[in-house]
Amino acid sequence: MKIIKVNNYEQMSQKAAEIVLETVQEIAQPVLGLPTGSTPERLYELLVRTHQTEHVSFKNVRTFNLDEYVGLPVDSDQSYHYFMNEHLFRHLDIPENHIYIPNGQAENLEQECAAYETYIKQVGPVDLQVLGLGVNGHIGFNEPGTRFNERTHIVELEDSTSEANARFFKSKEDVPKLAVTMGIETILEAKRILLLVQGEKKAEILRKVIHEEMTEDIPASVLQRHANVTVITDIEI
Ligand code: F6R
Repeated sequence: MKIIKVNNYEQMSQKAAEIVLETVQEIAQPVLGLPTGSTPERLYELLVRTHQTEHVSFKNVRTFNLDEYVGLPVDSDQSYHYFMNEHLFRHLDIPENHIYIPNGQAENLEQECAAYETYIKQVGPVDLQVLGLGVNGHIGFNEPGTRFNERTHIVELEDSTSEANARFFKSKEDVPKLAVTMGIETILEAKRILLLVQGEKKAEILRKVIHEEMTEDIPASVLQRHANVTVITDIEI
């Protein structure tokens, strides 16, 4: 793993934006894998700003989001569809049919997971997969104990994840219990992975992810197995 040490959230976001923009400008039909959450908010702002001020085009970009809650309407302001539209997509020139986000409202969720895998096979591989890190070591919604060979699947959220995400809802009880997530095997098929981790509360888990033996109890530790991972962090490793 290549580690880029930065001093703060702003520097992490700027460095990440540079790498995303290189991918967008150097590859003819770039495919990005994208997370939601607090971590990429400033990164997305910087991408929007570059699009608006330097006219970098995203019209050939295709995107796959990591995950979506089950049961939330896409226009609910807690859905990941809504988050991505507000923070990124509606500000860019990316065609709507280039954007893939799991449909958490699908009647048949198993079928939705299989369809998502098919889209990734047809359009992918993902050139650059951006990831945030959960305090319990999750990536996407792959919670501790998820098998490394899982592909897109339905998950039950851990209590600690519902708690961490409750800040976006009225209460923890309002956080959906289920989500659809790209699996770990799916994530590992990206050509390059960019893991963004900021803040003291993730220091202990990040050290485990990087230094301890790979284990399904710490989903992100699987990244040790991937040949092209860059971690950008303000944490002393
Ligand atoms: C969200 C996702 C999650 C988050 C993780 C960190 O799409 O895939 O794995 O990246 O929960 O969340 P934040 O960035 O809010 O600390």
